[in-house]
Amino acid sequence: MYAIPGATGANRSAQPDAASIAAPTAALDAPPTLAAVHGVAAGAQPNTRPRTVAAVLADSQVEAVLDELDRDLVGLKPVKQRIRDIAALLVIDKLRAGMGLQSQVPSLHMCFSGNPGTGKTTVALRMAQILHRLGYVRKGHVVSVTRDDLVGQYIGHTAPKTKEVLKKAMGGVLFIDEAYYLYRPENERDYGQEAIEILLQVMENHRDDLVVILAGYKDRMDTFFQSNPGMSSRIAHHLDFPDYAQDELLHIAQMMLQQQRYRFSGEARESFERYLQLRLQQPHFANARSVRNALDRARLRQASRLFADRQRELSEDDLCTLEASDILASRLFNESPTCPPNSKP
Ligand SMILES: Nc1ncnc2c1ncn2[C@@H]1O[C@H](COP(=O)(O)OP(=O)(O)O)[C@@H](O)[C@H]1O
Ligand SMILES: [Mg+2]
Repeated sequence: MYAIPGATGANRSAQPDAASIAAPTAALDAPPTLAAVHGVAAGAQPNTRPRTVAAVLADSQVEAVLDELDRDLVGLKPVKQRIRDIAALLVIDKLRAGMGLQSQVPSLHMCFSGNPGTGKTTVALRMAQILHRLGYVRKGHVVSVTRDDLVGQYIGHTAPKTKEVLKKAMGGVLFIDEAYYLYRPENERDYGQEAIEILLQVMENHRDDLVVILAGYKDRMDTFFQSNPGMSSRIAHHLDFPDYAQDELLHIAQMMLQQQRYRFSGEARESFERYLQLRLQQPHFANARSVRNALDRARLRQASRLFADRQRELSEDDLCTLEASDILASRLFNESPTCPPNSKP
């Protein structure tokens, strides 16, 4: 398990004690009221609350996150649109709450489905920021886990593990990667089911302070939901992350290089396009993650190239430029069409 830094925000006090999740009751409590989320004190004057979309946006600064999302992430058009739609829903929900029209906290649990490297974890971070800015979670941090963080090996180990994770995630987003591994029907006594049951309760009872995002391959998520209708019914938003097209991958590569203050020479760019063309046909291609890894290796080769020439005075241009040779040295260019699964193309 790891907490993803950079998404935490201001703490608010007087929130439900995280320890209260340590012993979820068998019966589901009534879902939290919206007043708890929006801090509407009993008897608060409705006319002191924002009445326009612009006022909510100005208060929350949520538009800045949406703009960043547009700017920093290449492609993902349908995902970006869905996130805008969700943000719109929440802004209107706030306005409705201000008028006393809303009585329940909306369910915000989500499923992000897509292949590896399509931006699911990255978008989860932005989503946490949006939820935080609009006041739907207290802190806005993301705790990212997989089955092993939630499920124990022995009887009695799973509940404490799952509750510990939930405690850490309270006030933010719990991101469960490859969530379908929680459910292993082939093993009758699998402890994953215990974790699922605890999650289900907390997803219902603490939805004013915890948003769960399940992530993984689309087909496996679909099968998981078919076998776990309880989980399926608690997921309000399904977002599909498409694979990137080749031109998007090149654009992503250039953005990644720019962030690290590197660039391609003209020829290196062409070589990288050819690299992508070949790499896309290889097994285990992981979209933007494969691009990141390929660039890491190209930077290593650039460093070795510069390192070899001890006496040469290196200019800024030398230090920042990846040359064609740094790309073309990849094994992908000298190998037969299928490389073994563990090789580094
Ligand atoms: N649309 C995008 N634009 C720019 N960088 C991206 C994009 N999608 C993913 N990345 C980068 O690719 C890497 C893998 O993305 P990640 O969110 O971990 O994917 P996933 O969780 O779907 O496996 C990260 O370094 C991320 O910043
Ligand atoms: Mg991920």
